[in-house]
Amino acid sequence: MLKDKYKLVEHQYDVVIVGAGGAGLRAALGMSSSGLKTACISKVFPTRSHTVAAQGGMSAALGNMGEDHWKWHMYDTVKGSDWLGDQDAIEYMCREAAQSVIELEHYGVPFSRTEEGKIYQRPFGGMTTNFGEGIAQRTCAAADRTGHAILHTLYQQSLKHKAQFFIEFFAMDLLMDEGVCRGVLAWDLTTGTLHRFRAHQVVLATGGCGRVFFSATSAHTCTGDGNAMILRAGLPLQDMEFVQFHPTGIYGSGVLITEGVRGEGGYLSNSKGERFMERYAPNAKDLASRDVVSRAMTIEINEGRGLGDEKDHLHLNLMHLGIDVINERLPGIAENARIFGNVDVAKEPIPVIPTVHYNMGGIPTNHHGEVVNIKGNNPDSIVPGLMAIGEAACVSVHGANRLGSNSLLDIIVFGRAAALRSVELVKPDTRHKPLDEACTEKILADFDAIIQASGKKNAAQIRDKMQRVMQKHATVFRNKELLKQGIEQMQTVFDSFDDIVVADKSLHWNTDLLETLELKNMLIQAQTIIHGAHNRTESRGGHAREDYPDRNDQDWMKHTLCQIDNKGQVKFSYRPVHMFTLSDECDVIPPKKRVY
Ligand code: FUM
Repeated sequence: MLKDKYKLVEHQYDVVIVGAGGAGLRAALGMSSSGLKTACISKVFPTRSHTVAAQGGMSAALGNMGEDHWKWHMYDTVKGSDWLGDQDAIEYMCREAAQSVIELEHYGVPFSRTEEGKIYQRPFGGMTTNFGEGIAQRTCAAADRTGHAILHTLYQQSLKHKAQFFIEFFAMDLLMDEGVCRGVLAWDLTTGTLHRFRAHQVVLATGGCGRVFFSATSAHTCTGDGNAMILRAGLPLQDMEFVQFHPTGIYGSGVLITEGVRGEGGYLSNSKGERFMERYAPNAKDLASRDVVSRAMTIEINEGRGLGDEKDHLHLNLMHLGIDVINERLPGIAENARIFGNVDVAKEPIPVIPTVHYNMGGIPTNHHGEVVNIKGNNPDSIVPGLMAIGEAACVSVHGANRLGSNSLLDIIVFGRAAALRSVELVKPDTRHKPLDEACTEKILADFDAIIQASGKKNAAQIRDKMQRVMQKHATVFRNKELLKQGIEQMQTVFDSFDDIVVADKSLHWNTDLLETLELKNMLIQAQTIIHGAHNRTESRGGHAREDYPDRNDQDWMKHTLCQIDNKGQVKFSYRPVHMFTLSDECDVIPPKKRVY
C-alpha cells in the first residue's frame, strides 16, 4: 500500500484549518480559545500569507468620521455586487462588522487614530451614506498596512491560545468518505514526510487563485489550492467567471497601489492630462466601484489616450496630497512605487493599469462558513465536516463585484462565524470514525504519479502559457469569439499537463514538485473561469460582455455552479440568489439598473 510506502504520520484534532491568512487565523483564534483542539496548516509562514499585502483597510459602519449605519453599508454591498450577492449573508456581514473591528482593536491591532483617539476611517469606492446620497468614511485603516497589522495580531493571539501550526505544509487533498469530510492529507515540505490529519471540521481558508493570470496583485502563492481540492472531491465551485480587476496595479509588476490613495484624494489621468473618471462616473468619479473604474481605464487605453510608448497605461496622481499626508497615511505605497515603479510619489504620478486582484467566486457556503451544495430540491444542503472562509469561499457577499475593504471585513467576520459554528457542532475530543483507506490511497496514487512524471514540459512552461491565455481571453472586456478562442487554447494547455516532467524526485523542499502541484490546481480553476465567462451571456459586475452589454436578471439572476472532470470538461448547474434577509430589521434591496 502507498500508505506504507510513504509512512504517513497520523494526527487527530477537533478542527483543522488549511491556510493561515486573516480568515484562517481568525478561525484558529476563535476555535482554540473556545477549547477546540485546533490545527492550522499553512504552506507559508503565517505572517507571509497574502493578507499581509492588504493595504487600504476594513469596512465597518463605526461612524467615527461622520454619520454611518450598517444598513447603508448593506445597501452599498448589495448594489456593488450587482444584485448577485446573497442578501442574508450581506446583512450578517454588515451587522457584525463594527463588533468585529472592535474585537480586533482589543486584540491589539494598531489602527490609525483620529484627533480624538478613535479608529481612523477613510472613503473607499462604492461606500456611501444614506443609500447612495453621500460619500461614507467607512474603511478602518492602519496607515496603508492594515492587512499586515491584522495578520500579525491574529497570529500572536492564536499562539497565545495554543492553536497548533504546521508551517510549510502543503495540503494535498480532502479525505472525503461517503460525502462527509473527515480530514486532509498534507506534505511537510521541510522534512519530506506526509501527514494525515483527522478532524471533525476541515476549514478551507486557502485564498484565491489570482496567479491563474499573468498580471495579478496576488502573491505567487495564490494558487487556489482549496478550490482545487473541492473540484477534485467532485463538489462544485460557484461564480468563478467573476474576477475583479483592481484599477491601480503598478504598470509592469502588478503590485497593488491601494484604493486608499483615491480615498485620500488621489486621482487618475490620461495622456491628455484629463481626469477622465469625471466623464464615466460624474458623482463618485475616482471612487466609483472597481468594475466601473477598471472598464473606464480600459476604454481610455483602447481609444488611444493611454501613456507611454505603447499607450498602454494611465497615471495615478497623489503629488498634491503633500508629503505629510503621504508619510502618515500612505507610507507603504510610497515605498512600493519607489521599488517597483521607480517613482517618487511626492514628485511624479504612478503608472498604473487594471490588474487581476480578487476572485468573487469560490466554494459555496452559507453565512456560518459551512460548504453547501444542491441536493434534490435543496440548493443549500450542507456538506458535513467541511467549511470554507475568506477569498476561497463564495458566501456570497460580493456577488459579481466586491467593494474595496469588504475583503478584510469578510475574512474577519466569516473566520469568526466559522469558529462560532464549529463550537456549536463539535464536542471537544470526540472520537474519530474509522476511515475507508481507499480515499487515502487514491490521493497518494495521484501524488505518486506526479512525482514519477517524466514528460518533456516543466511547470514553468505550462504555467506561463496558461497565464497568457487567461490574461488575453478572460480579461476586463469579454466577448464570445475571444472566449471561444481562449477555451480552445486553454484546452491545449490543460492537455499539455499530461506531458509534465518533475525533474527533482525528492520530497525535501522540492519546489519543482510544489509548483507542479500548484499548477495542477490552477489549471482546473482556469478552466472553470474561462468556461464560466463564456457560459454567462450577460454583463454583471466584474463580468463585462461586449456582445451582451446589459445585465439580464430574467435569465441570469442566479449563481453558477461548475464541476470539472479529469479531461477538463466543465459542467454547469445553478443555485438561486438569496433574495431574502436574516432578520426583519431590514428589507430586501430590489434590483436597480446599473450604468455600464
Ligand atoms: O485598494 C486596496 O487597498 C485593496 C483593498 C481591497 O481589495 O479590499
